Order: sequence, then structure tokens, then C-alpha cells
Amino acid sequence: MDLTDRHCRAFFRLFSKHIRLYTEMRVTGSILFGDRDGFLKYDQLEHPVILQLGGSDPNQLRDCAKYAERWGYDEVNMNVGCPSDRVKSASFGACLMAKPQLVADCVAAMADSIGIPVTVKTRIGIDDMDSYEELATFVDLVAKAGCQHFIVHARKAWLQGLSPKQNRTIPPLHYDRVYQLKRDFPQLKITINGGVTDLDQAEKHLELVEGVMIGREAYYNPWVLHDVDSRIFGESVNGIDSSPIQTRFDIVEAFLPYVESQLSQDVYLRHMTRHILGLFHGQPGAKSWRRYLSENGPKRGAGLEVIEAALKFVSEEVDQEDEVTPRHPSPFHQVGSAAAASCSTFSEEVVGVDIVHKS
Ligand SMILES: Cc1cc2nc3c(=O)[nH]c(=O)nc-3n(C[C@H](O)[C@H](O)[C@H](O)COP(=O)(O)O)c2cc1C
Repeated sequence: MDLTDRHCRAFFRLFSKHIRLYTEMRVTGSILFGDRDGFLKYDQLEHPVILQLGGSDPNQLRDCAKYAERWGYDEVNMNVGCPSDRVKSASFGACLMAKPQLVADCVAAMADSIGIPVTVKTRIGIDDMDSYEELATFVDLVAKAGCQHFIVHARKAWLQGLSPKQNRTIPPLHYDRVYQLKRDFPQLKITINGGVTDLDQAEKHLELVEGVMIGREAYYNPWVLHDVDSRIFGESVNGIDSSPIQTRFDIVEAFLPYVESQLSQDVYLRHMTRHILGLFHGQPGAKSWRRYLSENGPKRGAGLEVIEAALKFVSEEVDQEDEVTPRHPSPFHQVGSAAAASCSTFSEEVVGVDIVHKS
């Protein structure tokens, strides 16, 4: 679904200097035989950025990993978690959990030929292969092949009968399995994933594992990330968030130069606006923001003025609310104020924002 494409990652980067951003899965064939430049292109501001590969042929994965290194990606991640039918019929993604030796061969082929880390994103199990012992055996074998960092979606996947969407909600979360992995493999870096919707939860996980990956919440309610550098990465001064980004309005302003530069390279506005629809989630004006951008972003010749107009709608609604119930100052007046750093509500639903704070 191309959620965390390069425009989305450029947007996420405005929230934090430190979070690790993942590309959406790139199938090996698309890089080897398709529009390689198009698939691998990214902006330098995205670093640290990780290329996620989907495939099961060690030689093809090795060749793609070499391209990733040449293109300057910080890491390569192998997808062993996607349960979709299309991916399963091509014999990669989550179904590879049933073939630990093949995953180990793929990891070894990549790790032996590049200098950047190779990591694996996996589930806690698939189908009836869902015991902790099977997960531990998988991790042990793949770690010995050269993977020192596992990102574990704390749900099993049913490869028959459930859609990818259902596989992100129906199988229950078992965080305990991921914690157990960390206890049994203390030398490995473990990132936990699945169902994390705020930084309070992330902080709790970080007491037991090195990293937390936030997918849907970061995409549909990106403001959840706004104080990650001060809370998780220690970038506060006397306990106060020192970031120049204090409001959602600051984020939009900071994004405009990127949008402008992309427009000048003939990128359509809608490719960028589609990723910022959730910015005002739960706030006054959120509906107007979404509607205006959705209706006007795709129009021929749409430019920065669309974002500016959408922003105006939001600020008007904020002002109106404040007139009725003066609860908080207009975000326009909150620049530099730590009080602005709050996120009141969270949506129900990347692909890839990985908060790893321990080295
Ligand atoms: C639309 C969509 C696309 C996704 N694409 C990928 C993908 O390309 N690679 C991947 O490893 N995970 C992908 N995921 C799964 C997320 O990375 C994550 O593992 C999952 O959503 C659970 O985490 P969450 O509860 O924080 O969202 C996708 C999720 C969604 C909703």
C-alpha cells in the first residue's frame, strides 16, 4: 500500500532526528529487474533509513543488499512477517518462518557481502507453528547467520483464512514472548512491535527490550511522535522539550520547503498530502483539514496554497472553539511553549517507525 514511501518518511523525520524509518517492503525482483532508481530513491534527510526487502532467494537478496549499501541505506531488513496471499504465493514474507534454514541462508548471503547491518522483521509464529520454542529456534539459527537485531510483531499470523488487515488485529498480542526472547538472547537487539499507541506504552516496553516499532498509530496519528526525542532520546533541557517543533502548525511549516522542492521536481502534491491527513487527528479542525487536502490535493496544478488554505481552516476552527471554551491558546501562539506538546486522542489503527534507544 506504499504507506512509508519517501515523502512519508520525509514527513516523519520532522518529528524526530533519531527514530529509524523503514521503507515499505521492496520485492527483490522490483529492484533487480524494475525501476531500480525509482524504488531506491530517498532524500538524505531521511537517515537513519532502512531498506526492507521481500524475497527468499539468497543470491537475489544479496544483490539487492549490495544495492542498498551502495545507495547509502543505513541497514537492510528482511521481511519475514507479511502474511498476504500474494507474498505467500511468491514464497516469502511470514511463510518463511516455516523455513528457518532458508532465512538463515538469505541473511548469511546478505550479511557476508555488505558492511551495513542486516536485520529481520518477523512474527511470533504462523499457523500451528506458534510455540515459543519454535520462535526461539528460528531466532537462534538466523542470529548465527548474521542477524543481530530482530523486530518482532508480537502476534502470530494465520496464513489461511485471514486477510493481512485481520492478521494485524485478530491474533492476540503476546508481548511476553518478545520479552522472553530478550531474556534468552541477551546479546541480540530486540524491537517489539504491535498495538503500541503512545509513548507511555513505548517507555514501558523499553524497560525490557531495546526498541519499539510503531506502525499504524504513527501513520494515522503522527503527532504521537512529537515528543519522542525529548522523552525517549533525552533531548530535553531542564526537563523541557527544547525542539523547535512544538505544535502541529510548526510541523506543517517545516514540511513546506520539502513539498516545494518536490513540486519543483514535478512530484504531484497529492503524493505528499496523503501522508499528512492524520496530523490534526482528534483536534478541532481535523475534519476540515482532511477534507480540504483530500479534495484539493489531487487537483491538476495543486501547489503549496492548498496546504496553506487547509491550515487556515484549522486555525479558524481552533479560534472558534477557543471563543466558546477558552481551553488552550491557538497553536499559532504556542511556538516555543512546552505546554503545546500534548496529544489528546489516539486512532484505532508502517509501517515503520522504530524507536531504538539503547545501543
Ligand atoms: C497498510 C499497511 C502496510 C504495511 N506494510 C508493511 C510492510 O511493507 N512491511 C512490514 O514489515 N510491515 C508492514 N506493515 C505492518 C506494520 O509494520 C506493523 O508490523 C503492523 O501494523 C503492527 O504494528 P502496529 O500495531 O504498530 O501497526 C503494514 C501495515 C499496514 C497497516
